[in-house]
Amino acid sequence: MRGSFADLVAVPSSQLATKPPSLTHAEAAALVLPGLTVVQALRQHGFGPGTRVLVLGASGGVGHLAVQVASARGAQLVVGVCSGRNVEFVKSMGADDVLDYEALEPPDDDEAGVAPDPLVEALREVLRKHGGRPFDLVLDTVSSHDARDRAHAYKSRIRSNPALLDDSPNAADKHNYVTIGGRTGGWITAGVKRVTGVNLFKRGKELFWINFNQCAPDLRTLRALAEGEGSNGGVRAVKPAIERTVPLTDEGVREAFRALHGRRVRGKLAIEL
Ligand SMILES: NC(=O)c1ccc[n+]([C@@H]2O[C@H](COP(=O)([O-])OP(=O)(O)OC[C@H]3O[C@@H](n4cnc5c(N)ncnc54)[C@H](OP(=O)(O)O)[C@@H]3O)[C@@H](O)[C@H]2O)c1
Repeated sequence: MRGSFADLVAVPSSQLATKPPSLTHAEAAALVLPGLTVVQALRQHGFGPGTRVLVLGASGGVGHLAVQVASARGAQLVVGVCSGRNVEFVKSMGADDVLDYEALEPPDDDEAGVAPDPLVEALREVLRKHGGRPFDLVLDTVSSHDARDRAHAYKSRIRSNPALLDDSPNAADKHNYVTIGGRTGGWITAGVKRVTGVNLFKRGKELFWINFNQCAPDLRTLRALAEGEGSNGGVRAVKPAIERTVPLTDEGVREAFRALHGRRVRGKLAIEL
């Protein structure tokens, strides 16, 4: 909230862990925010070996790590949604299947809303291919308060179809459509959960909010993942992809924010000292 970029910072020791030797300093820095987001969100939403996960925005900063962490920790199925140019990238992160949202937009001329939604149909087909069971968890890194993101209406498109997301009383988590962006009311409810532990979100959805307080154990979990520990048969060690590195100058930071506001960065941007 008060600025994030500096040559030197003072940090509580409860928020420190040593850097994994397998990562450069820029990679280790790039891992922290999206990595903590993923580790905490998965833990809070019933993830375990055998979980079936859908990641929307699977090529972005949080999404590409969600795919890697879920796959490394034994997800039964990881499906990513991204643009066509990033399909191979997301597969290389460990996704079992990847869908191109640009090729699966709902038709423009369907004013009555009766035509089948191509994305929903494609997701159903993927699930049929992988045994038919719905996803246990959706991590939506796209939806936010921004009208450009809201225009995709992922939440209503996916939650309106019971074949896609497990909403039975036996579901491992009753708040299993998780967004990481949202409107003011959602942040207040997320803040209540963070401070008191009381979850006031309606069944079937939740806005997740990262918690840096006492996060050292989660940082150690990320270090272990980056060193390939706990991997699913040693498939891959978790490693953030850095699309571009900029210097810690006014112009470098402006360039990074311009790119982030475009919402098309693949993986992460890093600011290097
Ligand atoms: N709540 C929390 O605690 C928390 C924690 C971390 C981050 N956040 C917030 O979460 C948001 C996402 O963070 P991020 O770092 O992952 O963002 P990001 O890296 O900027 O996301 C960009 C990615 O979004 C993808 N994308 C854009 N439109 C899409 C669409 N319609 N369908 C699927 N993918 C789409 C792009 O993929 P293509 O180029 O392939 O289209 C791009 O790879 C940010 O607003 C961030 O501030 C919240």
